[in-house]
Parts: sequence; C-alpha cells; structure tokens
Amino acid sequence: MAEFEPRIIAFLCNWCAYQGADLAGTSHLEYPPNVRIIRLMCSGAIDPVYIINALLTGADGVLIGGCHLGTCHYQNGNYKAQRRVDILRNILHQVGFAEDRVWLRWIDASEGQLFASTIREMVNELKAKEPNPLRHPWEVWQGSNWGP
Ligand code: FES
Repeated sequence: MAEFEPRIIAFLCNWCAYQGADLAGTSHLEYPPNVRIIRLMCSGAIDPVYIINALLTGADGVLIGGCHLGTCHYQNGNYKAQRRVDILRNILHQVGFAEDRVWLRWIDASEGQLFASTIREMVNELKAKEPNPLRHPWEVWQGSNWGP
C-alpha cells in the first residue's frame, strides 16, 4: 500500500503540552504538519466522546497531552485523563479497533523538543499502519475538508 499522510488530532492542556507545542513553534523546531491541535484547560477535561468523535470523523490518531504527573495545575486532572484513556483504549481493544492510535503523553511547557519528537514518532508509527478504517466511509458521507 502506498504511504499515506496520517491525520492527528491533539488535545493539549493549556498549561503544559500546549505551551510545549508553542515552544516548538517559536523555537523553529521541525515536525510534520499532520497534526491539528485542540486546546483544553487541562488533560482532565478530555471526554472519551471527543476521542471517539475524532476517530469517527477521520483522524488516524489522537494525542492527548498534559502536564507530567504531579504537576497538573488542577492537582489531579492528568490522573483522571490517564484513567479515562486507559479505559477507552481497553474498550477499543475489545471491539477490535487499534487502541494504539490513541496516545497519552506528558509534555512540559519547556519540552518543545519532546512535543516535536512525539509528533514525528506518532506520524511514523501511523504511516506504518493503514489509514483509520473508519476514515473513508465517513469522508464519503460527510465530505472531507482536511488539509493537504
Ligand atoms: Fe495540564 Fe492538568 S493542567 S494536565
């Protein structure tokens, strides 16, 4: 199969992972343009429905990024995110969907390099897979307005 360009939706917490992404940009670090970022105030605000909706509407991978454990600005939001993502990944596995399309990473505001390398790594891993099997039917049905 020809290589495809994976589409990644990244839900990033405002205080750490989003700032890390911003630092990657302001530091002119290169990473693939395959990611669309949605900012949440805390990774603990992630609702599994957001992740499922991203997958159902054509994302090949979903990244949830938050502060390192113990440094959440809302005390324990990232622990909640971790539990929700673990449960969701387990459910995805049970229904036969590749749960490794959903990534959870802790990225600090000072870790622009880590954000860039995470995106590079995720794109490479997704390229080794086939496109999200849910992608095509929904694109045909809804019409796609994704970039490149
Ligand atoms: Fe960053 Fe909670 S504020 S994970």
